[in-house]
Amino acid sequence: MKVLLVGNGAREHVMGEALAKTAEVYCVMGANNPGLVALAAGHATGKTTNPEFVLKKAKEWGVDYCVVGPEAPLGEGVTDVLEENGILCASPSKAAAQIELDKSFCRELMEKHACRGRAVYKVFDNGDDAAEFIEVYDKPVAVKPLGLTGGKGVKVVADVPGQLKTLEAAKKYAKKVIEDGIGGGARVIIEEKLEGEEFTIQAFVDGEYVVPTPAVQDHKFAYDGDKGPFTGGMGSYSNAGMLLPFMKQEDYDQAVDVLRDVVAALKAENTPYKGVMYGQFMLTGEGPKVVEINARFGDPEAMNVLPVLKTPYCEVCEAINEGELVSIPLEFEPKATVCKYIVPKGYPQKPESGKKVRITGKPKSRMYYASVDKKKDGIHMSSSRALAFVGIGDTIEEAEAVAAKDLSLVKGRVQYRKDIGTPELIQKRIRHMNELREAVRVINRPITK
Ligand code: AMP
Ligand code: GLY
Repeated sequence: MKVLLVGNGAREHVMGEALAKTAEVYCVMGANNPGLVALAAGHATGKTTNPEFVLKKAKEWGVDYCVVGPEAPLGEGVTDVLEENGILCASPSKAAAQIELDKSFCRELMEKHACRGRAVYKVFDNGDDAAEFIEVYDKPVAVKPLGLTGGKGVKVVADVPGQLKTLEAAKKYAKKVIEDGIGGGARVIIEEKLEGEEFTIQAFVDGEYVVPTPAVQDHKFAYDGDKGPFTGGMGSYSNAGMLLPFMKQEDYDQAVDVLRDVVAALKAENTPYKGVMYGQFMLTGEGPKVVEINARFGDPEAMNVLPVLKTPYCEVCEAINEGELVSIPLEFEPKATVCKYIVPKGYPQKPESGKKVRITGKPKSRMYYASVDKKKDGIHMSSSRALAFVGIGDTIEEAEAVAAKDLSLVKGRVQYRKDIGTPELIQKRIRHMNELREAVRVINRPITK
């Protein structure tokens, strides 16, 4: 099989690695990813969001089908143009990808079809109305631009640097989103602030059938202890098996049911979804609620799931294309994973871009390239996430130790989160979840005389 992979981050590096086990991989990249260049049978750099360019390369290479990593090419119709020209894509159409590309589309669809896991929200095209709603609602909220902001446009009411300290700050930010057109449009979503532990479930979908992969927890905040501004994700972990340490089986099952609801809703609207659906959930004391649905693998979360996928990823993509996911059993190695990102100092607000990064030794974990440029004199970072290290072990603690050891081999003007996957942080998550569940249990306890 010849597979075309679109994209050039660490997510695409791990996708390429998984495909290359049983297929010939061809890459269209926005910038040269040294990891993909090394494994690809052919590669080209250019605009990954230009459907004509992607189609030209796909035809030149005679690929059997295509997989798209990031969301932006979906929004520009890359999958639609390829399919119109007879090249199947194990990724969603532009219409189905609206589930990620337009936050109001996602929420309105879920409401119309009574999908489970919904949070309270309202959409505004006027800053004053949004501010008035926040005033009357009088509880902590999340303020969300409607379009894509790389996870960096959303802010929540929280007393930490980089977030909205007060409801007043939330009102101001809601107005700013409209005035400055943050996220492309001139609308803003005000959503109830969900309290809990966040987790991701990524599922393969063939239009109808939903096959979930192990739950993963990403770390959005830039600094240790969940402090600082939001980022694209600083690292993530998964456990051996499908659940995270703070989760119950019913939490996982309920989240998968939400994804099934969304897939059924998209089918009912005549925009069937195929590819990977990424559900980001907040596990509240009352169960999982949707934070976001994305139309692709997560970055970093793809790096937790694909390295332990035993079933050839290429076969999964073929089954997606044939609408036959039901017929292939999905198997995972019973291993825990911890992924940690190396980013340039100052990331995400004032990254020192263009600095060199060196690795002084042989890493034991898997290393994936993200936003780097391999020049004659070494590897240069950009302003974004640079390298990811993924430790694999029987337990999260073991996997963390593998990744942590390798991080000490990295030299350069870099920073990373030390706490991701450590026993202390995992215990904190478990305690937090226990407290939230206990609070709900107390509220719901019947009054006895
Ligand atoms: P997003 O870009 O929509 O994925 O949001 C970025 C981050 O904002 C999420 O990973 C959450 O940590 C946080 N967030 C988004 N929506 C909410 C919400 N309703 N309640 C609490 N936190 C949220
Ligand atoms: N890790 C968050 C995302 O990929 O959207």
